[in-house]
Amino acid sequence: MTRRLLIDTDPGIDDALALLAALGCPGVRVEAITTVAGNVPLDAATANARRLVALAGPPSPPRLARGAAGPLAGALVTAAHVHGDDGIGGLAGLREADGRPRYPVPDQPSLEMQDGAALILEAAAALGPELSIVALGPLTNLALALARDPGGLARVGRIVVMGGAVDVAGNVTPAAEFNLHVDPEAAAAVLDAGLPLTLVPLDVTRRVRLGRAALERALGRPRDRRARFLADLAAQGFGPAGDADGRGMALHDPLAVGIAVDPSFARLEPLRLRVETQGALRGQTRRAADGAPCDVALGVDAGRFLDWLLERLCRASA
Ligand code: RIB
Ligand code: CA
Repeated sequence: MTRRLLIDTDPGIDDALALLAALGCPGVRVEAITTVAGNVPLDAATANARRLVALAGPPSPPRLARGAAGPLAGALVTAAHVHGDDGIGGLAGLREADGRPRYPVPDQPSLEMQDGAALILEAAAALGPELSIVALGPLTNLALALARDPGGLARVGRIVVMGGAVDVAGNVTPAAEFNLHVDPEAAAAVLDAGLPLTLVPLDVTRRVRLGRAALERALGRPRDRRARFLADLAAQGFGPAGDADGRGMALHDPLAVGIAVDPSFARLEPLRLRVETQGALRGQTRRAADGAPCDVALGVDAGRFLDWLLERLCRASA
């Protein structure tokens, strides 16, 4: 059975790996991509989504829509210090010998829409339980879709969210993970809506790492533009994206895509969670008896997932 995905994303270096894995995965069809401000402002996130679709060159390109330019409440706080101002570790500035950009933003795809929430609801209505939504950034677009049509989102088969930190410290504050910290109001609305939701928190994403050398070994000699992008990312994109501690990049978003495609990568537990929207704990996910029920990935088969990811990213380029 083909897995049909809508990916909501704020690319972002780990988002880029997740998108290339999904766009190159046999048995998976990325029906649509919606962008959201998060790691970088919306324009940069959308430009990167267009670059990545062009690099992946899927047989049937996904529809693309720009989503929210900021959180439901408060100002956007990006992670450009991690992902680079361009969101892809500076690769947008690379030039060929003749001065042409190495990774230009392709011409506006004719399918681009200006309303991410509308595309989410359209895909949910068209595909229903056959559709899985994978949210790799702040949940603003999903919350806007929910507000517009509360029953619309509930039609989909599964919503897999990369976000939260349940029994571990956050990565923005000691309490909060980035995606939920950017827009805790949106996260609370989505978790409280009783949707078929799987949460992939830092508890497991920090346990799957990819080092620069491992990616370069798996790539070998890059044989196409997609592989060259990955080689350039390995060469200069890993530092800011968390390879600083020398253990390799934490594969937050690729793991969420992996679990959407094959839930057996994770050990899921039914929990009740609350998202804090006030004060110093803003963006925290905590266990609560009156919290919203969701399946939470608290265990991961890291080795098998990493093999799967490298197969998707590298062998397909060979
Ligand atoms: O906390 C990690 C998450 O925040 C990932 O989705 C990363 O891309 C950033 O958006
Ligand atoms: Ca992301």
